[in-house]
Amino acid sequence: MNTLRLGVNIDHVATLRQARYATMPDSKNAEPDPIAIARTCERAGAHGITVHLRADRRHIQDRDLQRLRENIMTKLNLEMGNTPEIVDIALRIVPDEVCLVPEKREEVSTEGGLDLVAHGKELSGTLKRLHAAGVRVSMFIDPAPEQIDAAAALGADIVELHTGKLANAFTEKIEQQELERLREAAVRAANAKLQVNAGHGINYRNITRIHKIPHLVELNIGHAIVARAIFVGFETAVREMLALMENYRG
Ligand code: PXP
Repeated sequence: MNTLRLGVNIDHVATLRQARYATMPDSKNAEPDPIAIARTCERAGAHGITVHLRADRRHIQDRDLQRLRENIMTKLNLEMGNTPEIVDIALRIVPDEVCLVPEKREEVSTEGGLDLVAHGKELSGTLKRLHAAGVRVSMFIDPAPEQIDAAAALGADIVELHTGKLANAFTEKIEQQELERLREAAVRAANAKLQVNAGHGINYRNITRIHKIPHLVELNIGHAIVARAIFVGFETAVREMLALMENYRG
């Protein structure tokens, strides 16, 4: 059994920097530096670094992305909306992986998965361009059978299953329902030869529920690790999460 891999989403390291230095990007005092944190995550054993370059540049900046590309030793996963501006940047930077996500300006964080059935045509063009550049492509989707089938038909390499509903389930009934949807989606995706990743809302407590989803290869976790790092430091926060992922049995 391969170990479950961890991609650390470091967007909120940049959120903290932007809270003070958004209007002074060249200040020598601008901190914390997401690139230094990416290196710390790698030292702690993270298998990849994930960032989301949003259209409004609320956290990660273009320069961060360039520097991450130059400095990351593991793997750079770029989350992005399917817009011409951001696609051009991705084709210039050439991350190891791109995860296509829906993006709304007014949302606090990504809400819901991509609708591959409704937007298949636009996504297909972007996917082909990214593949031609040698980038593996993931689709962030809700755990619905029609979305899995559409991802396979489009020729995606990976699906990242949206775990937000499971993570935030208020009742046991909703939790069970959502877990069942995720389990079925994971089996369907694995049968379609898609790599199965998961992300959104995963933390140090609900990770036990994630263990019940089969076929997972990688988790992308951001907020909980950044929040924990405030107390224990980034290296320990990453190591603690990796320890909780260790006994995943697939
Ligand atoms: N995966 C995707 C596609 C996301 O959009 C996000 C949020 O940026 C994450 C994973 C990480 O979510 P969280 O910050 O809740 O761990």
